[in-house]
Amino acid sequence: MQVEEVIKKRKSIRKYSAKPVEKEKIIKIAEAARLSPSASNKQPWRFVAITDKELLEKAAGSLGAINSWARTAPCIIAGCSVKKDIITHWIAEPLSGVRYHILDMGIAMEHMVLQAEELGLSTCWVGWFDERKLKKLLNLPLNWRIASLLTLGYRAENYEPKATKRLPLDRILVFR
Ligand SMILES: Cc1cc2nc3c(=O)[nH]c(=O)nc-3n(C[C@H](O)[C@H](O)[C@H](O)COP(=O)(O)O)c2cc1C
Repeated sequence: MQVEEVIKKRKSIRKYSAKPVEKEKIIKIAEAARLSPSASNKQPWRFVAITDKELLEKAAGSLGAINSWARTAPCIIAGCSVKKDIITHWIAEPLSGVRYHILDMGIAMEHMVLQAEELGLSTCWVGWFDERKLKKLLNLPLNWRIASLLTLGYRAENYEPKATKRLPLDRILVFR
């Protein structure tokens, strides 16, 4: 698929089939994140791919009632950020007011989304979760923060994604 086709085809999918996601595909998806750009190339990302059934059930339980649909996902990827670089993350961020490491996480995780789509998989970003609960459950190091999650899996056959609208281009693009 061409990039344009992948972008146009992608929708947030909130119901998955029971088919597990092949490990090679998860690795390919992580590779797409690995290759993404980041501020000063500091690569402040770490990823946890949750595929263990018991852990998945518990992890889905920390996403709130609004995300109860996530229980159907055979894989949840936790996108974690690590602010390691003194200059980029601890000096430049407060000076400029730009949270570079969060931008980097967004870019890397959207790379994952697009790669997953190309591999015939579906995803949904999940930004509403109990970070404390999830960090404990996954036994993550103290200095890791969970920026966001992605559910990953094969779309359930009977599921049609919600139609979502976008602002027209003339509202979001200006030329100067
Ligand atoms: C940062 C971020 C956080 C999100 N958090 C959630 C979430 O917690 N639960 C959910 O069901 N969808 C979540 N979404 C999905 C959005 O609701 C969805 O992308 C938007 O409605 C547009 O629909 P589409 O992705 O199908 O085009 C999130 C999306 C982003 C980018």
